[in-house]
Amino acid sequence: MKIFLDTANLESIRKFNDMGLLDGITTNPSLMSKEDGNPKDIMAEITKIIKGDVSLEVVSTEYSGMIEEGKRLRQYGKNVVVKVPMTPDGLKACKHLTSEGIPVNVTLIFSPNQALLAAKSGAKYVSPFIGRLDDIGKDGMNLIKDIKKIFDNYKDDFQTQILVASIRHPIHVIDAAKIGAHVVTLPPAVLDKMLQHPLTDIGLENFLSDWKKLKTGI
Ligand code: G3P
Repeated sequence: MKIFLDTANLESIRKFNDMGLLDGITTNPSLMSKEDGNPKDIMAEITKIIKGDVSLEVVSTEYSGMIEEGKRLRQYGKNVVVKVPMTPDGLKACKHLTSEGIPVNVTLIFSPNQALLAAKSGAKYVSPFIGRLDDIGKDGMNLIKDIKKIFDNYKDDFQTQILVASIRHPIHVIDAAKIGAHVVTLPPAVLDKMLQHPLTDIGLENFLSDWKKLKTGI
């Protein structure tokens, strides 16, 4: 399973990239708005740091604007994936950009039907938002199961990858991996939690205090 970081925070991106954990990055206008600095500089820097796919999102809502912005976003690097919303214009833009060799991530997916249509349009990734479904009392993980089943049924027709988004905690990651989702995109706080275990901390403390008793270096 690939791990993307769901952030535009350069410090977090560098931190986890230095551990070799990141296969890519996803951003969106809300994530960009949380960062200080010029968004253009931030986008340029992310595409320099990360070798894998970097999703950058359009803000136009109509087809020609999405195409124009998509092409401009692609100038930031060959690893840029253009993120478009799951709308009729978004799908039209997806088809067009894909036909020009520009990969597309269709975002704001909340139903299996939307995922199926985005795949038909040629999307490289579909981004189902599971946390936001959980928030309204629907089981977001069921959506991932349904999309996986549908894509598996038509393996020869679709190369589209399921990019699980709106992840809120480490259990989401385990469940998505059990289902076989291709990618999870994680807020830095979730990736931090995945690293930690209290028994690791206690074990390390014991190792270090036992070694101290030997009164020697290595
Ligand atoms: O990648 C989409 C993700 O950022 C949405 O997450 O937590 O705003 O639902 P959230």
